[in-house]
Amino acid sequence: MADKKAQLIIEGAAPVELPVLTGTVGPDVIDVRSLTSTGHFTFDPGFMSTASCESKITYIDGDKGILLHRGYPIEQLAEKSDYLETCYLLLNGELPTAEQKAQFVSTIKNHTIVHEQLKTFLNGFRRDAHPMAVMCGIVGALSAFYHDSLDINNPQHREISAHRLIAKMPTIAAMVYKYSMGQPIMYPRNDLSYSENFLHMMFNTPAEVKPISPVLANAMDRIFILHADHEQNASTSTVRLAGSTGANPFACIAAGIAALWGPAHGGANEAVLTMLDEIGDVSNIEKFLAKAKDKNDPFKLMGFGHRVYKNFDPRAKVMKKTCDEVLGELGINDPQLELAMKLEEIALKDPYFAERNLYPNVDFYSGIILKAIGIPTSMFTVIFAMSRTVGWISHWKEMIASGQKIGRPRQLYTGYAKRDLPR
Ligand code: CMC
Repeated sequence: MADKKAQLIIEGAAPVELPVLTGTVGPDVIDVRSLTSTGHFTFDPGFMSTASCESKITYIDGDKGILLHRGYPIEQLAEKSDYLETCYLLLNGELPTAEQKAQFVSTIKNHTIVHEQLKTFLNGFRRDAHPMAVMCGIVGALSAFYHDSLDINNPQHREISAHRLIAKMPTIAAMVYKYSMGQPIMYPRNDLSYSENFLHMMFNTPAEVKPISPVLANAMDRIFILHADHEQNASTSTVRLAGSTGANPFACIAAGIAALWGPAHGGANEAVLTMLDEIGDVSNIEKFLAKAKDKNDPFKLMGFGHRVYKNFDPRAKVMKKTCDEVLGELGINDPQLELAMKLEEIALKDPYFAERNLYPNVDFYSGIILKAIGIPTSMFTVIFAMSRTVGWISHWKEMIASGQKIGRPRQLYTGYAKRDLPR
C-alpha cells in the first residue's frame, strides 16, 4: 500500500512525485514505475537497491539475521517441522493440517518415479560430466515428457508440475550420481521418508540394501529445509525472469539450476571443500587469509560473506549444530574438517572479516556435513538445487498467479552512438 510519497528532483525538469510502498515488515520501497514517462531509468546493476517484485513467501532481515518463511522463523522450522511440511507451507502459504500433510506426502510419493525413457538421456553425457551440467539438461528435458501439465494459465497444471518437480528432483539427482559411478540406478522407495529415500537411492545398490541412519536422514532433511527458499536471490530471480516470458516450469527450473551453479551462489558449498583442499594444512591458513584480503588476488574465502546477511546467517547457526551432531554420530576425525573449524576460528577473529561483517554462511557448514555423510563434492550444489526447487516453484507460481509483466530491464548505454560503416 502507498501511504507516503517521495519527490525526485531532476535538474532542468519538473519534480517527480513517486509513491512509497509499505510492506508488512522491512524497508519501504519507492515505486519508480512511472519514471519512464519522464525519459529516465533507474540504474542498479547488482540489484543492490531494487525490489524486483512483491512477494508473500519469504522475509529476510539481513542486519538482524532473521529468515522467515510465510512468517515462521527458519530455526523453528528446522527444529519442529520437516522438509515436506515446509514445502507445503512455501507452496500454499499455511502449515498443513494432519490430513492435508498426509495427502501432500502421498501426492509427492505418487510422482517419485521418472519416465523410463528419461534414463536414456544420461547415456549422452560423459561419465565424468559435472552433475550440475547433467541436472540442467535432464530437468530441462522434463518438459518434453510431461506435456499434460504445461499450460501455465491452468492453476491445476501449475500445481501438478510443482508436485512433479519436488518429487522427481531427488530421483534425478541420485540417477545422475549413480551414472557417474557406473552403478545401477536405484528406484525410489515410497515406504521411506523424503530424505531416507534420497539416501537410499544414493548409497544403496541392488546387491546390498542397508538401513538408513536416522541421524543422517534427519541431517539431510534439515539441509533440505535450510536451503528451501531464500527470497529473491540470483537463481530465484532467474526463475522468475524466465517464467515471466511464459516459459514452462521445467524450463524455468533448469534456468534456476544454471544460475545456482556459480561459486558466488550455490556452487559455494563445493568451492568450500575445494578451497580446503587447496589450503591443505592449518599452517597455511594465514597465507590464504592474506590472499583473501589482497585486492589484487581474485581468491575469496569461500563460505564467508553474504549479500544480504551482514550480521550472521541464521541458517549457518542451525547448520553448525547439525554439523556437530553428524560428526558426533559418525565419530569422524577428519583432518580437513579440523582445518575448516580452525579456519573459521581464525577468520572470525581477523579484523578484515570483522570490519566487513563477513561470517560463515550456510554453505560453509553444509559442505562439511555433506562430506561427512559421504556425498561427493561435485554433488553438493545438486543437493542445494533439489532443496531450492520448492522455493523456485513457489515463486514461479506466485508470479504467474499475480499476472506479472515480462521482466525486461533497460540499460545505461555507453557504447558508440550511431555511426556509418566506413565503406
Ligand atoms: N572473502 C574475502 N573478502 C570478501 C569475501 C570473501 N568471501 N566476501 C566479501 N568480501 C569483501 C569484498 O572484497 C569487499 O571488500 P571491500 O569493501 O574492501 O571492497 C567486501 O567484503 C564486501 O563484499 P561484496 O563483494 O561487496 O559483497 P557482495 O554482497 O557483493 O557479495 C558474496 C556477497 C556472497 C557474493 C561474497 O561475500 C562472496 O563471494 N562470498 C564467497 C562465496 C560464498 O560463500 N557464497 C555463498 C553465499 S550463501 C549461499 C547462497 O545464498 O547462495
